[in-house]
Amino acid sequence: MLNWYDLPTYYDTSFSHEMNDELIFLKTIFKKYSNSSKPKLLEPACGTGRLIIPLIREGYDCSGFDLNRNALLYLEKKLKRRKMYANIFFDDMIKFKIHKKYDGIYCTVDTFRHLLTENDAIQHLINVKNALKKNGIYVLGLHLIANEKKIDKVTQWTAKRGGLTIRTIMSMVKLDKIKRRETLRVELKIKTNKIQDSVISIYQLRTYTLLQLRKILKNVPELEIINVYDEYYDLSNPISLNSGSDYAVLLLRKN
Ligand SMILES: C[S@@+](CC[C@H](N)C(=O)[O-])C[C@H]1O[C@@H](n2cnc3c(N)ncnc32)[C@H](O)[C@@H]1O
Repeated sequence: MLNWYDLPTYYDTSFSHEMNDELIFLKTIFKKYSNSSKPKLLEPACGTGRLIIPLIREGYDCSGFDLNRNALLYLEKKLKRRKMYANIFFDDMIKFKIHKKYDGIYCTVDTFRHLLTENDAIQHLINVKNALKKNGIYVLGLHLIANEKKIDKVTQWTAKRGGLTIRTIMSMVKLDKIKRRETLRVELKIKTNKIQDSVISIYQLRTYTLLQLRKILKNVPELEIINVYDEYYDLSNPISLNSGSDYAVLLLRKN
């Protein structure tokens, strides 16, 4: 079984689809909450750097790391082609080392849920806290599982880049609320004028109810929730988290 993160061109094309609201949100937040002229940002598990490239263009000093060497290589090449610089390294969300402090750290699109145990997730949050400057911001975006949630969700979209068209079909195939595991199946239907192919990737994410999210955040009280938004990333429309919340984007500030 292939892991779609090993196919960076396809991942990057698929996930760059309709990311404009997310990007505007990040650009605005880090300007608003930093008083540095060139804020330092870190993206744990940056993958192909779909967000890093436009953030560099916006004037941010960007760093990112991942455990997937294919994705990192793809990102390095993309930076080189554009004559851009970012500090890209191989590291783990659970125990990454930092050499400087950051104004902002961001981790959206459920990446945090790749950390499958409570300890790993707590360790990540502690590392984030240590990596932030005082008053630095952590933007954490993840889906919550509502109490009555069943296996129902299929999300699909089509993205195009040059002659490449990718249809992504993402579905939850199993939900185990006791073990706190969601099994996701991602099918990429790939089409160019030369090939037509399909790649299936299946992997697990840790689940969070609102209560479980609140509980884990209590382990790192230095990270205080200052606002929450939904999947529309609309800064003029903060939400209050409730047990029916779906995708939540938390702004956590380090005290
Ligand atoms: C959904 S992708 C997100 C990539 C990128 N942050 C983005 O927004 O497009 C999840 C990424 O997490 C990486 N990943 C998963 N577990 C990791 C870990 N423990 N440490 C570092 N990277 C990890 C994967 O290799 C993959 O690139």
